[in-house]
Amino acid sequence: MKYVIATHNPGKLAELQRILAPLGIDAITVDGLTDAEETGTTFAENAYLKAALACKETGLPAVADDSGLCIDALGGEPGVRTARYAPVGQRKQTVLAKLDGLPREKRTARFVSAVSCVYPDGREITAEGVCEGYIGTECRGEGGFGYDPIFEVEDGRTFAELSPEEKDAISHRGVALRLFKQKLQEELEK
Ligand code: IMP
Repeated sequence: MKYVIATHNPGKLAELQRILAPLGIDAITVDGLTDAEETGTTFAENAYLKAALACKETGLPAVADDSGLCIDALGGEPGVRTARYAPVGQRKQTVLAKLDGLPREKRTARFVSAVSCVYPDGREITAEGVCEGYIGTECRGEGGFGYDPIFEVEDGRTFAELSPEEKDAISHRGVALRLFKQKLQEELEK
């Protein structure tokens, strides 16, 4: 069965294809889909809005995700605005500058990921994953993407210093996708 994946990100598409293939799902993209306005106040709402629009436009079950970084000292910012918080290339430095001088115990943060699937008959499956950590004081590590070099996990390494397997095992997206797969499997067995 075909499911449409509402993303422009080839990395996310490949990740979802890997998860969905063992369930007999052919994850495809469709050109020309409208980008949903991310007007939700939570990651789950935005993932749902993106999936619901893609489902409406294609008539196929649709899957979308939304993710971001919530920093306690910034009142949860950038949160759902993570992707548009500062110009590309200045995002990590913007965050580091805002937290300048704060001790480690006040640099707590979490990455959140929500994945949503919407069916043409209105059924919806949404799963969320969280990874707790700290914002470091400088960029470290070569791996990953986005804010990875400034996000430290419990052992002090940043996401960018973990192997992809180590990151998947604990990351917000890894947790959300494993839960999503489980919920989807239950739905398919009904
Ligand atoms: P989305 O594509 O709307 O989910 O945007 C997510 C935003 O959060 C982008 O700016 C990403 O760089 C950032 N982000 C999400 N997950 C991660 C991650 O695992 N590492 C680093 N940055 C992330």
